[in-house]
Amino acid sequence: MKRKILITGGAGYIGSHAVKEAVRFGFEPVTYDNLSMGHSWAVQAGPFVKGDLADRPGLVKTFQKFKPTAVMHFASHTYVGESVTDPQKYYRDNLTNAMNLFSVMLEKKVNFFILSSTCATYGNPVQVPMPETHPQNPVNPYGDSKLMLEKILTWYDRAYGLKSTFLRYFNAAGSDESGKIGEVHDPETHLIPLVLDAAMGRRKNITVFGQDYPTPDGTCVRDYIHVTDLAAAHFLALKRMMETEKSDFFNLGTGKGFSVKEVIAEAEKVTGKKIPVQMGTRREGDPPELVAQADKANRVLGWKPEHSSLKNILETSWKWHQAYFGKSKKA
Ligand SMILES: NC(=O)c1ccc[n+]([C@@H]2O[C@H](COP(=O)([O-])OP(=O)(O)OC[C@H]3O[C@@H](n4cnc5c(N)ncnc54)[C@H](O)[C@@H]3O)[C@@H](O)[C@H]2O)c1
Repeated sequence: MKRKILITGGAGYIGSHAVKEAVRFGFEPVTYDNLSMGHSWAVQAGPFVKGDLADRPGLVKTFQKFKPTAVMHFASHTYVGESVTDPQKYYRDNLTNAMNLFSVMLEKKVNFFILSSTCATYGNPVQVPMPETHPQNPVNPYGDSKLMLEKILTWYDRAYGLKSTFLRYFNAAGSDESGKIGEVHDPETHLIPLVLDAAMGRRKNITVFGQDYPTPDGTCVRDYIHVTDLAAAHFLALKRMMETEKSDFFNLGTGKGFSVKEVIAEAEKVTGKKIPVQMGTRREGDPPELVAQADKANRVLGWKPEHSSLKNILETSWKWHQAYFGKSKKA
């Protein structure tokens, strides 16, 4: 019998790719999503429950009906900038919704949990590449709310035996090679879809924030990890956690960074279009370089990013972007 996993936020960008990967890894996904940001068409496998994490009775019913053996938790608010202007939203929802989920897991004796965590839990880098042991001093409520969840879960393991794996993503990017699911955020804040919007003429240009960073070409450097590789890591981590019954934490990145200018140049090659660029000043809180030390996931989980060349990230994103956004003109 296939093992069922509850995937919160399975109708969102990364969650929908995890739903698809679940089947490949021999699990049966059950999506729980309120569609505040996600899309029902993105759920390509398994049952879909439209529900909010704030609705505890709804969660209990879902656990009773599907009897999952593990939970992968993608559902949260995800905008760093918004978390600074509206911290209440981030602490209230990202924390209390997750606490609801944990309480139902404890009640139903579901003991395995995977957390979508982030490099934003580290804050400003004191060393690059950043290892998992890097100090965690978040500089915004978004990263802080995720760090709080990591701390809560560490205590829950001690007290209740709830095992969890924290996966600290760097920059998720790319789309499933089928071209059927991909990145659709509204508003969109991520570099690659914005660059592709400019390539398609859905926006006038792309603004590069800051050219005077201490990086080779002066623009910010980030570690882009393909969403299919990201999704696969969740199942390797889950399998290992179920075998060892131990909690753990991993960076998910490639260990190699690309500057904003490099991303734009590669996007011009892939799309065959000239991308109009406007130079802007630095944005507050943008570190020059965020790159993962990524060997732990490889060593312990046998995880190897296979889809994460910048070229493939841009090619799969472009295929998706044209298919999904091709019909409308403006972003
Ligand atoms: N995208 C990245 O680069 C990145 C990097 C680091 C960490 N993360 C984390 O990964 C996770 C997924 O990110 P994403 O980019 O796929 O986001 P997303 O917004 O595309 O997906 C989140 C999903 O959760 C759902 N959701 C939100 N609140 C809910 C609630 N209260 N009840 C039920 N469903 C709810 C939304 O409808 C959406 O489908 C998030 O936890 C995010 O913090 C993302």
